[in-house]
Amino acid sequence: MTDDFIQAYIKAGKAVIAAKKLAKKLIKPGESFLEIGNRCEAEIIKSGCNLSFPINMSLNEIAAHYSPPIDDQTKIPEKGLLKIDIGSHYDGYIADSAFTININEDPKLQNYIEAAKEALEAAIEKFNPGVKLYELGEVIAEKIINRGLRPITNLGGHELKRYNLHAGPFIPNYKEKMHDQILKPGDAYACEPFATSGIGKVENGKNAYIFRFVKKVKKNMSYEHLAYMNKIEKNYKHLPFSPRWIENNNIIPKNKIQRTLEFFIGKKVIDKYPILVEKTNEPVAQEEHTLVIDMTGNLIVTTRE
Ligand code: CO
Repeated sequence: MTDDFIQAYIKAGKAVIAAKKLAKKLIKPGESFLEIGNRCEAEIIKSGCNLSFPINMSLNEIAAHYSPPIDDQTKIPEKGLLKIDIGSHYDGYIADSAFTININEDPKLQNYIEAAKEALEAAIEKFNPGVKLYELGEVIAEKIINRGLRPITNLGGHELKRYNLHAGPFIPNYKEKMHDQILKPGDAYACEPFATSGIGKVENGKNAYIFRFVKKVKKNMSYEHLAYMNKIEKNYKHLPFSPRWIENNNIIPKNKIQRTLEFFIGKKVIDKYPILVEKTNEPVAQEEHTLVIDMTGNLIVTTRE
C-alpha cells in the first residue's frame, strides 16, 4: 500500500505525544533534568519507537540543543521558560515536536509562548500543497511581531526524510524568499517557530551535549579507537546521539567517553551540535509540530493530540 509510510509517521507521532505528556507531568521546580530526560526518552522506546535525537531541555536564553549530559546535576529552577524538544522514529519515519513550559506561570513570559503557538497554528493552517516555504515564514513572523516579539531568523523548520532529520529544504521563520520550495503530497516537515524579546538570532554556545556520526577515518587510529568508532557507526549512523546513550549501551567505558568523543571530533569522525544561545541573552519560546501531507493532499499533524 502506498500510504504505509503515513502509518509509520503516525506511530512515531504517537510516541512523541506520550513523551510530551510525561514531560508536562514531571517538570516541577527542584526536579532533575537528567531523570526527566531519561524518563521521557524511555517513554518513546516503550511506545515501540526509537529516538531520533537526544531530548532537548533548553532553558530561557538557550534556544536549543541542551541535553542532559552524563551525571547532570541541573535542577528545574523556580521560574523561566523551559523548551522540551523530543523526537522519535518508526522504521526511519521521524516525528519531531517541541513545546515550552512557563515554570511559574509568569504572565510576561506566557506572551512568548502564545506568540510561538499562534505562529505555529498560522503556519499549519497555511500548510497545503502548492504553498511556498517562505509563505509559511511570512505568517510565522507576522504572528510573533503582533505580540511585540521577534522570530529567531537563523533557526527554522526542516524537511524530514527517512532517517534524515535535516533534509535540505528549510522553513524560515520570516519571509525569506530564497526558500521558495513548494509543498507537495508525500512531504514531511518539522515546523518550529521561536519567539524572543531579543535581537532574534542565535549563536553557538561553549558546550555541546549532542553529537552525530560523520564518517569513518582509519588513518592513525588505534585498534581501541577503531572499535569505538565502529560501534558508534553501527548504532548511530544516521541520527544524533547523547553521551548518555554511549554510556548506557556500553559503547565506550564511562571514564573514557569525554576524551574519546573529543578525539573523534578532532579527527572529524563525529560532529558536535553546540547549544544555541540567543545573542542578546533574552528568553526564547519554541513550539513545534511534525506535518505530513499524504498522497491525496491531506495534512496530518502527527504530533498533536
Ligand atoms: Co524539534
